[in-house]
Amino acid sequence: MPPKIPMRSPIRALYGSTCRRRPTLPAFAALSGPSPTLEAVREWTPTSWRALPADQQPDWPDEAVLEQTLKQLSALPPLVFAGEARQLTSSLAEVAEGRAFMLQAGDCAESFDDFTADSIRDKLKVILQMAVVLTYGSGVPVVKVGRIAGQFAKPRSSPTERIGDEDFPSFRGHIVNDLVATASGRAANPERLLTAYHQSASTLNLLRAFAKGGFADLREVHTWNQEFVATSAEGRRYEAIASEIERALRFMKACGIDVETAALHQVDFYTSHEALLLGYEEALTRQDSLTGAWYDCSAHMLWIGERTRAVDRAHVEFLSGVGNPIGVKLGPAAIPEDVVAVCDRLDPERTPGRLTLISRMGSGRVRDALGPLIRAVRDAGHPVAWVCDPMHGNTFTSPSGRKTRHFDDVLSEIETFFSVCRAEGAWPGGVHVELTGDDVTECLGGSEEILEGHLDVRYTTTCDPRLNARQSIDLAFRVAELLRA
Ligand code: PEP
Ligand code: CO
Repeated sequence: MPPKIPMRSPIRALYGSTCRRRPTLPAFAALSGPSPTLEAVREWTPTSWRALPADQQPDWPDEAVLEQTLKQLSALPPLVFAGEARQLTSSLAEVAEGRAFMLQAGDCAESFDDFTADSIRDKLKVILQMAVVLTYGSGVPVVKVGRIAGQFAKPRSSPTERIGDEDFPSFRGHIVNDLVATASGRAANPERLLTAYHQSASTLNLLRAFAKGGFADLREVHTWNQEFVATSAEGRRYEAIASEIERALRFMKACGIDVETAALHQVDFYTSHEALLLGYEEALTRQDSLTGAWYDCSAHMLWIGERTRAVDRAHVEFLSGVGNPIGVKLGPAAIPEDVVAVCDRLDPERTPGRLTLISRMGSGRVRDALGPLIRAVRDAGHPVAWVCDPMHGNTFTSPSGRKTRHFDDVLSEIETFFSVCRAEGAWPGGVHVELTGDDVTECLGGSEEILEGHLDVRYTTTCDPRLNARQSIDLAFRVAELLRA
């Protein structure tokens, strides 16, 4: 794995190899005297990002309170374990090598206000349903990764937002401030970092119970179909697959095949989020006592957003040193040299599964923009997984002022992504989507045909519009067809 174990670092010397907590030394504290360039001498530590410019960080009103909160966070237990992150890396290596498909899905931004067992369960249901449709339809194993249990922080195009006649700080996700547009609501509040940690811990606890405790058992395949989905065309199509799976399980059992294996009764479900707030990520970064490597234990997988992927800045520096699998979002402005530079920096060892490149070009741009990137990355010898985020390049504002996306654009970007990958000899390795298990009306189109006039009916997202459960399952059927083609 790429994590550079800081063998000679001052921090290693101070804490020794069994250190679990992040150190609190300022970056480069022990570097002194005349030296070659910083680049030549420095080593990664969990704090080394602090010496570089960090984009998209909130304007915290009191740095001392922030640091105090981060110190508190650094004393709390890790949310995930290094071994789990390594297991995900192995599964993503299968994706990179064309033997598996990744489904990464969940909210644009998790909310402190919509935090119930039902909403977590329903999101998991849709993801499990999509995975079943994809696996059954294509015969390819599906690696399931939620945008969940930590997906709170949002990058913004502008630091302020005009509401009425007033400018307010932009909403940056519940981990930072509130959607309510008042001066106090929009002030960045470090206490929210702790709330986000605790909500992530509870969410993860429930997800682990669902994944391993019987709910995700393939014998429950029918019960994942929610009532409002089951009555739709795609819900009925799902029911048909579920019945075939049930029959197949009975058949296998009748033939004397052991169907009591864990593979049929449990799933591996991983968590991920955008590693945006570097103080928070640093506070949850711990050294694995088994290997000595550092892991960001806030989630199994972290990704770098389109706005923070510059190779010489803080986000890439921070993620270069943790052992988790890393995603990098690539928008239409990404140029081959920059993408190769970021791959070199994040994965100098070229380890399959370490890097997932998430193309989010927009349906009109992907045909021209993606090919040169695939070629450059391959020529540089990086064994990445290529995944399509068909959401973030296809957002527009409806005449009524709602941020939305059209199902047809989402599907069209995925279709073109498949066709470009195939033309370039690359494996179209997955999809990254924003969805909810609820019956929302946030994205237009789909077989139930959500129209502009419906957007106001159930528009509950705190950030970007999400596919509802029916649209998500519909999408899974279309992607399974593409995989089969
Ligand atoms: C997101 O995934 O919600 C997001 C902001 O993505 P991007 O960085 O691709 O714009
Ligand atoms: Co989003």
